[in-house]
Amino acid sequence: MATVITKESLRKAMSQFATGVTVVTTLDDHGQPHAMTANSFTSVCLEPPVVLICVAHSTHTYKYLEHSRWFGINVLRQDQEKLGIYFAKRPADRHGEVDYSYSTSADGVPVLDGSMVSFVCQVMESHVAGDHTIYLGEVKEIREGAEGAPLLFFHSRWYHPSHK
Ligand SMILES: Cc1cc2nc3c(=O)[nH]c(=O)nc-3n(C[C@H](O)[C@H](O)[C@H](O)COP(=O)(O)O)c2cc1C
Repeated sequence: MATVITKESLRKAMSQFATGVTVVTTLDDHGQPHAMTANSFTSVCLEPPVVLICVAHSTHTYKYLEHSRWFGINVLRQDQEKLGIYFAKRPADRHGEVDYSYSTSADGVPVLDGSMVSFVCQVMESHVAGDHTIYLGEVKEIREGAEGAPLLFFHSRWYHPSHK
């Protein structure tokens, strides 16, 4: 008998796959930096250098990416958890004190200062998959940043291996 895959069963199963956490940066319609927390980031191939992210159509980031076609991927450290929480909120709900700043890459893409590493990417292909679009980005620049333990997401929560 075929198993029925519900949203809940898929979400629960996927939550057992631990990931790192990134912030996707792009320019909004006014040319200002915009950021969103994302863990759909993965490496695709080395030759050419390609990575991907999956972006929900309900996000501002999707709207901006469709226009700008460039994005930054900024890998967060454990001590940047507040940023991960902050940029997972809708922009209208982003209140409170969170310290961050951007730099601009050679190609004019915003990158988040203090990240472990940042990738500057140009969209080479995009594919609609349900209510998300998969963006394949050719990596144009890699910025090594501050070292540290990675921020992790597991069981739908921020994960600290030392806390158990
Ligand atoms: C750990 C974590 C990972 C996330 N990964 C993604 C992702 O890969 N793609 C996505 O579209 N949204 C993802 N989200 C949700 C977005 O961060 C959230 O919808 C955000 O409010 C979108 O911001 P925007 O509308 O300003 O673009 C994630 C949220 C969390 C907490």
